[in-house]
Amino acid sequence: MNIPLLDLKGIFKAQEAELRAAMDRVLESQYFINGPEVAAFERQMEAFLEHEPISAVGCSNGSIALLLAMMALDIGPGDEVLVPTYSFFATVSCVTLVGATPVWVDIDPHTCNIDHTQIQDKLTDRTRAIIPVHLFGRMADVAAIEQILNDTGRRQQVAIIEDCAQSLSSRYKGRRACTFGDLSTLSFFPSKNLGAYGDGGMVIARDPDLAHKVRVLARHGAEVKYHHQFVGLNSRLDALQAAILGVKLPMLDDWSQQRRDNAQRYRQLFAQTGLGGAVRLPADDEGGYLHVYNQFNLLVERRDALRQYLKDAGVGTAIYYPMPLHLQPCFAHLGAKEGDYPVSEAAANTSLAIPVFPGLTAAQQERVVSLIVDFYKGQ
Ligand SMILES: Cc1ncc(COP(=O)(O)O)c(C=O)c1O
Repeated sequence: MNIPLLDLKGIFKAQEAELRAAMDRVLESQYFINGPEVAAFERQMEAFLEHEPISAVGCSNGSIALLLAMMALDIGPGDEVLVPTYSFFATVSCVTLVGATPVWVDIDPHTCNIDHTQIQDKLTDRTRAIIPVHLFGRMADVAAIEQILNDTGRRQQVAIIEDCAQSLSSRYKGRRACTFGDLSTLSFFPSKNLGAYGDGGMVIARDPDLAHKVRVLARHGAEVKYHHQFVGLNSRLDALQAAILGVKLPMLDDWSQQRRDNAQRYRQLFAQTGLGGAVRLPADDEGGYLHVYNQFNLLVERRDALRQYLKDAGVGTAIYYPMPLHLQPCFAHLGAKEGDYPVSEAAANTSLAIPVFPGLTAAQQERVVSLIVDFYKGQ
């Protein structure tokens, strides 16, 4: 029984007729970049987020969405941005690409999200933003971060940019991710919970003027074609991707629930294994969070050997992420060394994502767990 980490074919088959009709509509229109499909999807996303005021601006991918956020906030040389040491690379590259300096913050060992208790000590007069990443589908504690900024009188100077690439449709106390930050960013990379058929991204803004600036920046900084207020980028969402995403978005909460059901089944199965500390399960909903499990990420002993064992048995897994950001060669000049951010380093050595996609069957999950038990119990 081969069990992939992610199977997108089932999702496609369930919506095939609608998806093909949407793609045909774009082909018939021969309108491929921005235009009515993109505008319709942006409005659909705004309604989905259930929060006002909110503005959605499509762009080319989640990495550029973060870069656009930096640019819209005029963050640049001399500025500092607090970032978790454990995330996808783009969470930090957006900071250095505009010439600003990342300030590393370790993660919480339970959630793998930025450890908000370490934030206050890192704030300086040069801090301009914090990028909490809602890793694996469970939100970081944005409310606590906002509280710290308020209590220290810094909220006006320090923007919160939520990196929601992995967490669209998750919630904190009922309110959706993407509605807490001054700016929030999304990726529609195919493996995200809302995945396009290519690259795609979005910036969400609570302030309509900031949203407008993002939109202009994504069009070479020109509000009127060929008249440039800013040096912007070419970063637009394709009409084909917008049409596809528009078909998929109404299903997203349902898929998230399926992921949650699968996670719950894993919890029940692992509870019966007696594996103890060898396998640590991801954080759950505790504290008012609705986890949407873009990944069901274990922290395990003898990770690489277990991964090989599962691979040999036909089970797909992934390591998110094998090297923490502060140890990446391109950031060596920032001076961090091994041991400086121990929780991130431990996560990099023990992380293993196992299949949790919508459509995964109970029998497949039982097989994954029984293989893991076999591995540790040596049968
Ligand atoms: C946390 C996080 N931020 C940003 C990105 C960048 O998104 P994209 O791949 O669309 O550029 C990703 C995607 O992998 C991500 O997981």
